[in-house]
Amino acid sequence: MKATAKAHTNIALIKYWGKRDEALILPTNNSLSVTLDGFYTTTTVSYKPELTKDTFTLNDEVVVGEQYNRVTNFLNKVRDIAGKQLYAEVKSINAVPTAAGFASSASGFAALAAAATKAIGLSLTESELSRLTRQGSGSACRSIFGGFAEWQKGEMEDGSDSFAVPVAPKDHWDIRVAAVVLNAKMKKVSSRSGMKRTVETSPFFKGWVESIPSDLEAIKQGILERDFHKVGEVAEANCLKMHATTLGANPPFTYWLDTTMSVMQTVQELRSTGVPAYFTIDAGPNVKVLYLPQDEEKVLETLRNISGVTDVRLSRVGQGIKYLEDE
Ligand code: DP6
Repeated sequence: MKATAKAHTNIALIKYWGKRDEALILPTNNSLSVTLDGFYTTTTVSYKPELTKDTFTLNDEVVVGEQYNRVTNFLNKVRDIAGKQLYAEVKSINAVPTAAGFASSASGFAALAAAATKAIGLSLTESELSRLTRQGSGSACRSIFGGFAEWQKGEMEDGSDSFAVPVAPKDHWDIRVAAVVLNAKMKKVSSRSGMKRTVETSPFFKGWVESIPSDLEAIKQGILERDFHKVGEVAEANCLKMHATTLGANPPFTYWLDTTMSVMQTVQELRSTGVPAYFTIDAGPNVKVLYLPQDEEKVLETLRNISGVTDVRLSRVGQGIKYLEDE
């Protein structure tokens, strides 16, 4: 009744931005990401008959409130599927520096789903696991797979056809991602509430959704052909379109800071000097930069020299869910 799983976070090259069903976490558009090896969560789930409720620690600290509720609600789904009413002790260790601006919910829910289902005796296929993980946090359903993965939004109202599928494995292509950490303090609009406000109020949302199929087709072709320029161009443009929708929302908002724009401009300047580098940004101010291995030194040096940048963390393409031996 105990299992440990490790999951890596992912960065979307085609963003998931907007839900058609908030309870089931069903998206309005397909998205596509690359799983990263540098940032991961390891979670141990132990079901114990003596427990009267679930317990959850993150990096050895007891978690309460909204974050706890999301975990226990997710465990309820696992218990329902297994038909077993047992509470669990959940221990997670995040090797995702919060400051790096990586949403740890992706690696967190992927690791939780894998460990919780295994510990309770379910053996799910990767698609089934991805579909379940989706209900914890949407972007997490892509982290079941390593390499490049696409979350297919599906058409069914019950969400049965909404899960991620592999596009290309980890070893298909060695591209790199630098997470640029900024010295930033800002009031956070979570991705969950930000996308909700966008769907409900932004007149640009319709254009965003309509632009997805061609971006997706182009980026998949770029990945399969290992065409870095194509992948970078599509990813950067897709990120800019997503962020544009937030400016049209009511009330309007943006995740960008002045330093976010400095990094974006520096990346574009770097490109004009012949170094292929492209950026993408999630629901926060930090920037992720895509580049090729041979340009690592130049990219790193350039990013570290930008005023307001406190850290740059490098990542390679990562693997999917891994089950660890019980201690
Ligand atoms: C901007 O997966 O965090 O990172 O499904 O509400 O938990 P919920 O949202 P979440 O949203 C991620 C949004 C994004 C883009 C992406 O990862 O595709």
